[in-house]
Amino acid sequence: MTADASRRSFLTSVGAAGGAGLLYSAMGALGLAPVPDARAEAFRPPRRSDFTLTGRAGGRRVVILGAGMAGLAAAYELGKAGYDCRILEAKDRPGGRNWTVRSGTTLTDLDGRTQTARFSDGQYMNAGPGRLPQSHVTLEYCRELGVPLEVFTNTNANAYIHHDDGPLGGKPVRWRTAKADVYGYVSELLAKATDRGALDKELTAGDRERLIEFLRDFGDLKGKADGYAYAGSDRRGYSVEPGAGAEAGTVLDGVPSLSDVVASGLGQHFSFEFGYDQAMLMFQPVGGMDAIPRALAKAIGRERISYGARVTEVTDLADGAEVAYTDAAGRSRVARGDFVVAALPPMVLARIKHNLGADITAALKYPAAAPVGKIGLEYRSRWWETDEHIYGGITPTDNDLATIWYPSYGYHGRRGTLIGYYNFGADAVSYGKLPHRERLERALRRGERIHGAKYRAELAESFSVAWHRTPHIEGGWVGWESQTGPEYRLLNRPAGHVHFAGDWLSHVIAWQHGAICSARQAVTAIHERALAA
Ligand code: ALA
Repeated sequence: MTADASRRSFLTSVGAAGGAGLLYSAMGALGLAPVPDARAEAFRPPRRSDFTLTGRAGGRRVVILGAGMAGLAAAYELGKAGYDCRILEAKDRPGGRNWTVRSGTTLTDLDGRTQTARFSDGQYMNAGPGRLPQSHVTLEYCRELGVPLEVFTNTNANAYIHHDDGPLGGKPVRWRTAKADVYGYVSELLAKATDRGALDKELTAGDRERLIEFLRDFGDLKGKADGYAYAGSDRRGYSVEPGAGAEAGTVLDGVPSLSDVVASGLGQHFSFEFGYDQAMLMFQPVGGMDAIPRALAKAIGRERISYGARVTEVTDLADGAEVAYTDAAGRSRVARGDFVVAALPPMVLARIKHNLGADITAALKYPAAAPVGKIGLEYRSRWWETDEHIYGGITPTDNDLATIWYPSYGYHGRRGTLIGYYNFGADAVSYGKLPHRERLERALRRGERIHGAKYRAELAESFSVAWHRTPHIEGGWVGWESQTGPEYRLLNRPAGHVHFAGDWLSHVIAWQHGAICSARQAVTAIHERALAA
């Protein structure tokens, strides 16, 4: 294949998989087009003047099922054009999975077990979303609604990687140390192979020279005379820090062998931070993630949201749709709209009676709910800062905790709240089955292996959530076996006057951005219908 032909076929394949936006940025990466500022697809909020200018009556009524991020975004955007929106929310708060747990927050799970958070004033855990990428439209809502942001530290050289198993298992290794060793040895191998001519087919003499120059710098390698060896460096950290006068510092010794470094698998954690959605910088709202839904709910208007409202039936009609629900007092009620936005999780929607057709129910049952768990641990001291010099960031593990998160707020305060596990799949299922006390005990036992006795001794309070066992939510997110199949396509179209919305109908699942983009899609479709009528 010529270079041009292979470049064309690359463009066609990413175009096919990722749509025009991705094609466009790939062209940019190849120097063929300017790279656009990656943002949500173009969206024009409905305006009141759209109705007056076209001589049409506004004031259309829209019933929205669910005050999660998709439902809130739909009501907020439709409200800009004067749509009469009404949100029915089963819980007693807005936000759905965007949920910040503070003192007094209670949860009764699907197993009938109740927890009440007793965190100190100012301490909180984001039980759902906890980080915002810079490219996400969620940040634009924060700007528009005046929700202040601060940096969320997603990767930290001073946090650990902890493996129980493997040659480097049993004790935590700082990210910086693991990176120095993995980058060092990989660079050494590649430099040696290049120098011996193993890559002569791929590289010109000039390429070889420049590649070795890069690798020596990237891996902190010795020179040609020393076989481009990696022998450790101050990038690993210090056992004695450099200081004043004669104190030059002592570089951390005990560089593991190449074989142990490779076999340890520590390097498997590095690609996390290359992820488009996970790369630093990342952000969080000051004071808790729920500042976003609370600001949206306020902008929408308290009177437009009915809490404690459980939807029992959705009926599409010739000229609108009707929603039957039970209100907070247990009374049966009916809300009628020109349109309905169904922004509940698909597994919850699938159980609600409707007249939209059996294929809709089958499609709603198609995506699989993902088990996800989190525990918040409030400590009487910020020992991770004072004793271990960890200010935010994440320690990944190879055990069922999956990850420990250090708080990106309240530095140097008296107390602090860690996320003691944030896990998925089988790990989340096994923790989720346990009562809170046993989840806590298991999390402390694992955590002590990383941080020592203070991990138990300094603990003040805790609170845990198993999203898949949480009423009205029933999953951390969903996974689709196929997002090109008939089920996904069907639900991305209205069923009569009912439009579906949620992160589960986007290619940005498990992010608020996905929920907002999907809501905007439903809003645009409804507004176009209203203006065409
Ligand atoms: N968006 C979720 C996270 O960042 C999955 O953990």
